[in-house]
Amino acid sequence: MLIGVPAQAPPERRASLLPDAVSRLVSAGHSVVVEGSAGDHAGATDDAYREAGASIGDPWSVDLVAVVGLDDPDRVPAGSSVVGLVRPLEAPERVAGLAARNVSVLSFELLPRTTLAQSMDVLSSQATVAGYRSIIEAAAHSPFLFPMLTTAAGTVKPAKVLILGAGVAGLQAIATARRLGAVVRAFDVRAAAAEQVESLGAKFVELDLSSDHTDAGGYATELADDDQTRIIRGLDGEIAAADVVVSTAQIPGRPAPLLVDDQSLELARPGSVFVDLAAATGGNISASVPDQVVERSGVTILGPTDLASRVAAEASALYGRNIVNLVAHLTTDAGWTWDFDDEIADGVVVAHEGAVRHPRVAALLESS
Ligand code: NAI
Repeated sequence: MLIGVPAQAPPERRASLLPDAVSRLVSAGHSVVVEGSAGDHAGATDDAYREAGASIGDPWSVDLVAVVGLDDPDRVPAGSSVVGLVRPLEAPERVAGLAARNVSVLSFELLPRTTLAQSMDVLSSQATVAGYRSIIEAAAHSPFLFPMLTTAAGTVKPAKVLILGAGVAGLQAIATARRLGAVVRAFDVRAAAAEQVESLGAKFVELDLSSDHTDAGGYATELADDDQTRIIRGLDGEIAAADVVVSTAQIPGRPAPLLVDDQSLELARPGSVFVDLAAATGGNISASVPDQVVERSGVTILGPTDLASRVAAEASALYGRNIVNLVAHLTTDAGWTWDFDDEIADGVVVAHEGAVRHPRVAALLESS
């Protein structure tokens, strides 16, 4: 199979495949063509791609176009396939347009989050990087040091960090803040998160909720209004004591839950820094604005939506390995298997043979 790697349009800095992933694909019998300079922001030169076995050239005349975000759907050739973060739930009509040209669309957003699929799970690999970077951003904006320091001029107390939402990104944020020496507390609506939080050396914040809000798949469910209010007011004391708050709470397919409202922000210490990783989906923090730095009475509120892209080399390396593992799972020496009895193929392939085949995407198209 011939696989193309287009250069991503700015501000995206990641590349879908780095040379390491290219050499794995070439070893598996595939050919790869990379657009010139596609890896520049992720630390990969055209020469490094060539050494890994790729050619530099037109990435669009191929069997499979491998992208991070799909900037240019019209350039995907009719009858080919595309893999990436295609945003099928936000832009279902784009998937329909690709299906109409008989393009098979593989969308990481709808990959099942099962144990077998973990090595292909782009949402997890990129959330891991984003969680790490959220703490680096917070530390860079904070007027406080994170570690406890004993110096001749006196003792510096460790920073107090509060993490809201202890999924993949939140757990990595906890681990990173702990490595920097901060004292960390964390909250999640899933009771199962408590053990993971404590295993990283952080304290789990217990709030009095009506029930555990975990669905059958292990994900958080939306809350009734009274629990939502209980959480917001229950966190007030935590927010007043924190130097840094990182929020990562999401509910798949729904707007992000509000966890910090204007009233809570009034209690925040001057100098404290808030980082809202959910800013793109409505925000956990009332005052956050996507990709802006908001200052309010000495409190800094960040709403970055590109944290994985800011660590482009490592994020691309993980992303590329996710693609390599997915391609290996969905192909044999003879090409694509298109076996939809397989739950990974059934989830990730949202359009095939001219039709939108994923029920969630199809339902969105029908209702629009
Ligand atoms: P996510 O990005 O959808 O949500 C982030 C976190 O926000 C979750 O921990 C969620 O419980 C929490 N949250 C939602 N509403 C909240 C609220 N009102 N207040 C506080 N916290 C709230 O989730 P993510 O990080 O993608 O994964 C969540 C869990 O899914 C993981 O911890 C894991 O158990 C499971 N998972 C399993 C995988 C596998 O087995 N392959 C792969 C990835 C995740």
